[in-house]
Amino acid sequence: MPSTSLHTEILKLREQLNHHSYRYYVLDDPEITDAEYDRLFRKLQALEEKNPELITPDSPTQRVGAAPLEEFETVTHTLPMVSLDNAFDDGEVRDFDQRLRKLLELDEIEYTVEPKLDGTAVELVYENGFFTVGSTRGDGYTGENITQNLRTIKSIPLRLRNDKTPIPARLEVRGEVFYPVAAFRKLNEQRLKAGEPAFINPRNSASGSLRQLDPKLTAERPLDMFVYGLGQVVGYEFKSQWEALQTFKQWGFKVNPLPKLCRGVEEVLQHYRHIGQLRPSLPYEIDGSVIKVNSFEQQRAAGMRTRSPRWAVAYKYEAQQESTQILDIQAQVGRTGTITPVAIMQPIKVGGVTVSRATLHNEDEIERLGVKIGDWVIIQRAGDVIPEVVKVIEAKRNGKEKKFRFPKKCPVCGEPVVRLEGEVAHRCQNIDCPAQLKEGIRHFASKLAMNIDGLGEKLIEQMVDKELVKSYADLYFLKQAKLIALERMAEKSAQNIIAAIDKSRTVTLDRFIYALGIRHVGEHMSRVLAKEFGSLENLQKAEAERLQQIHEVGPQVAESVSSFFKEKKNLATIQKLLKGGVQIRELAKPKAAEQKFAGQIFVFTGTLEKFTRDEAERMVDERGGRASGSVSKKTNYVVAGPGAGSKLDKARELGVAVISEEEFLQMVK
Ligand code: IVH
Repeated sequence: MPSTSLHTEILKLREQLNHHSYRYYVLDDPEITDAEYDRLFRKLQALEEKNPELITPDSPTQRVGAAPLEEFETVTHTLPMVSLDNAFDDGEVRDFDQRLRKLLELDEIEYTVEPKLDGTAVELVYENGFFTVGSTRGDGYTGENITQNLRTIKSIPLRLRNDKTPIPARLEVRGEVFYPVAAFRKLNEQRLKAGEPAFINPRNSASGSLRQLDPKLTAERPLDMFVYGLGQVVGYEFKSQWEALQTFKQWGFKVNPLPKLCRGVEEVLQHYRHIGQLRPSLPYEIDGSVIKVNSFEQQRAAGMRTRSPRWAVAYKYEAQQESTQILDIQAQVGRTGTITPVAIMQPIKVGGVTVSRATLHNEDEIERLGVKIGDWVIIQRAGDVIPEVVKVIEAKRNGKEKKFRFPKKCPVCGEPVVRLEGEVAHRCQNIDCPAQLKEGIRHFASKLAMNIDGLGEKLIEQMVDKELVKSYADLYFLKQAKLIALERMAEKSAQNIIAAIDKSRTVTLDRFIYALGIRHVGEHMSRVLAKEFGSLENLQKAEAERLQQIHEVGPQVAESVSSFFKEKKNLATIQKLLKGGVQIRELAKPKAAEQKFAGQIFVFTGTLEKFTRDEAERMVDERGGRASGSVSKKTNYVVAGPGAGSKLDKARELGVAVISEEEFLQMVK
């Protein structure tokens, strides 16, 4: 039984952490350093690990950690999430005001003017101050239950603050989850690096990130949220939108700082313009301002249309769009071999910046737009993101436009271009393509691959630029004298690097496979393949069909692996690696007994007392099984700890075997 003082300490740590994370994520005004925060966090984590019975869902340690889902459940909104009518000029806003004044029989109306955030709308439900359910807007009536993903967003309170304002029994708030523009740019750079298609805009990446079945993936994205509206509230009376916004802040929500209370339509238009001026420098995207009648009583009196309220309107800002002509379309090779078609345009000023290139993303996008060389097009800039082509102006065609053919050969190295099963991107698969060589070597030398100590980015850059290495196999033929000739390279460091390269010559098969940098073959998949095939020769010979027979290997991986080993250049590089003295230690194939959960699906539910969720998942994984977050007919075992609820009911309903933690441990042994 844990002591009371321990319990008090845990509660105190949580309170401190909540306070500091509120200062950091909501107020953007931290009081302590990240390192201090991490120390407190780890302290709490350690105490909770030793005393798992004291873990509560609102603990700051519990934001991430839920198991992946198989699908989202649906949630019915208590009150529908309606949309807004748009206004496109001052006249339409004045008409809106006039209609309302007539309807409400008032000389002047008070409005709030708020930025219209360009993200994805969600609803959060708090019961007695605890965050219980979060959902997407969906069709306005029902949305998807994305609670566990929303929990990973640090500016969303798991528990409301009640130091200034009492908390209602039930509170439904609405707001916009968004992807900060700077982080969006970084994300796209990373995606292209990993050979994944870029997101079109921050809005898409916000909704894409929120709809991940595995909350760990959502947690990796720096999503943020502003709260701006209400659903159903039980046990609290709000009189106005302005009051609601202030109260949201007191409860610990992040509220946008730009809304203003305006008297009459002229003040409204003034603030609309003010927000418009700030727009280009905001760290998030907005596409208009929302004008709302402030008084809730007046809102009720004005009422609703079928799909939108009479008391609000969205006044859009001019899109950052222009028209220009496409002079050429070029294929550009990225650092990981992804080939992106780029439109070269007659230079044009959009939103104050002259642009001459726009991304066409990929072949599907070119098809969708129907774009040809010589076409007049509408292009769009969003923040500082690379401009994109929105649509073709077909009326301006003269018949001389030319269709763009995707190159069959890489424009940089001349090797064949492939489009892998299930991917939108074309890629150059040649691991020695100069366009990808630097990135390839960085990966090859990284810790989990060949682990060549000291081979940093700067050095790789020089080695490639000076043509010391034209393929990563060349590393194993490097001479110290050549290295010393490089900038800022002392004899001792050159010696160390040669020694590190030498040390990397003996490598296990899984690391070697990983080092090759085959698309879709990460660290885990490399291990799966190494275990299955036991040797490089066996793996090289495997056709896609054979590969697909392996549990965990889907069509994408199978295609990617088999096409990688068909590329002659890749085979030559592998030969050269072996010639350079690389020795691959083969992995012993595990005995059947060690894979005793092969093909079986486990679900863990309730409070686990004998092991953590991560440990449980690892035990299953190591034995060839799979841990899932939801119970279905395919589930083999539900492992239930104390307090198990709906998943346990579902297991009983479906007749799935339910076992205790103790029984699970017996099976593991
Ligand atoms: S209020 C009845 N306020 O715009 C009022 N919406 O077209 C309903 N949005 O689905 C919404 N910023 O995703 C409101 N400050 C703001 C908003 C906002 C963005 C989005 C929201 C909604 C859509 C309505």
